[in-house]
Amino acid sequence: MTQPTIRLAVNGRIHDISAAPDTALLYVLRNDLELNGPKYGCGLGECGTCTVLIDGLAARSCVIPISGCVGRDIVTLEGLGTRDRPDPVQEAFIAEQAAQCGYCLNGMIMTTKALLMRTPHPSETEVLEALRYNLCRCGAHVEIIRAAMRAAGRLAEAHD
Ligand code: FES
Repeated sequence: MTQPTIRLAVNGRIHDISAAPDTALLYVLRNDLELNGPKYGCGLGECGTCTVLIDGLAARSCVIPISGCVGRDIVTLEGLGTRDRPDPVQEAFIAEQAAQCGYCLNGMIMTTKALLMRTPHPSETEVLEALRYNLCRCGAHVEIIRAAMRAAGRLAEAHD
């Protein structure tokens, strides 16, 4: 059976995707567009490692059908910055060495980016609240929060 074509705007480029409308966005990003920043973790919308920005808001791409993404602006980790010109959030995570295995980092960075887009200088409480439902099983939370506070220009207020 021929699949319908669904037009998606990802990282500033238009893609015509041939897939079932209920296909999760994460699968299209990774399998069709080879954007492997967003990761598959739980597949249930609970861990956050698949997070992307949709119209500037953090969204869990494993539970969002592509039919719900038409006409919306999707940004993945690859759309934030380049190796030569990383986004300030990426720079902050590098500076703080805020990773152990690194699997959760896509979600941590994208969620931090979404927070800073709507609240440029969040308090530590706001950072903690924003990242509360992004899971890290290595226990790198201290460095991750420091990185988010650095990105927010509030490093001095972060607790060690
Ligand atoms: Fe999407 Fe866990 S893989 S929230």
